[in-house]
Amino acid sequence: MKLAIGSDHVGLELKPTIIDYLKELGHQVEDFGPTTNQRTDYPKYGKKVAEAVAAGDYDGGILICGTGVGISISANKVKGIRAVVCSEPYSAKLSKEHNNTNILAFGSRVIGSELAKMIVKEWLEASFEGGRHANRIKMIDQI
Ligand code: RB5
Repeated sequence: MKLAIGSDHVGLELKPTIIDYLKELGHQVEDFGPTTNQRTDYPKYGKKVAEAVAAGDYDGGILICGTGVGISISANKVKGIRAVVCSEPYSAKLSKEHNNTNILAFGSRVIGSELAKMIVKEWLEASFEGGRHANRIKMIDQI
């Protein structure tokens, strides 16, 4: 898959590990920043990654901030984006199967690198089930 990744200065702590892991799994990854741990603002990176995913340039996006909350809220402001913040793999998997999420977010202050990798793997390997869930996605789009 071709994936876009972004963070803020707090999420940057976990980002290199996740980038390496994605490459190890055979995915192509583009880092939308930041590249230094200078204090910055998560909405900037949530927006950049969300716009790239919504434009169809990437198969999905991964966002990391301290909690995953601010950066996922920012991404969800972009039309066509369904970003989920997850701290465990079950919700990550179901968020793809039922909600067709196109961005996964998590918090570097909430979870460790091994749990983050497990969450990423479940999310990437899951597929949207369509059917009754497709109609609900349409309903979301109409809100
Ligand atoms: C930055 O201090 C922190 O607010 C941010 O990383 C994130 O947790 C926001 O939701």
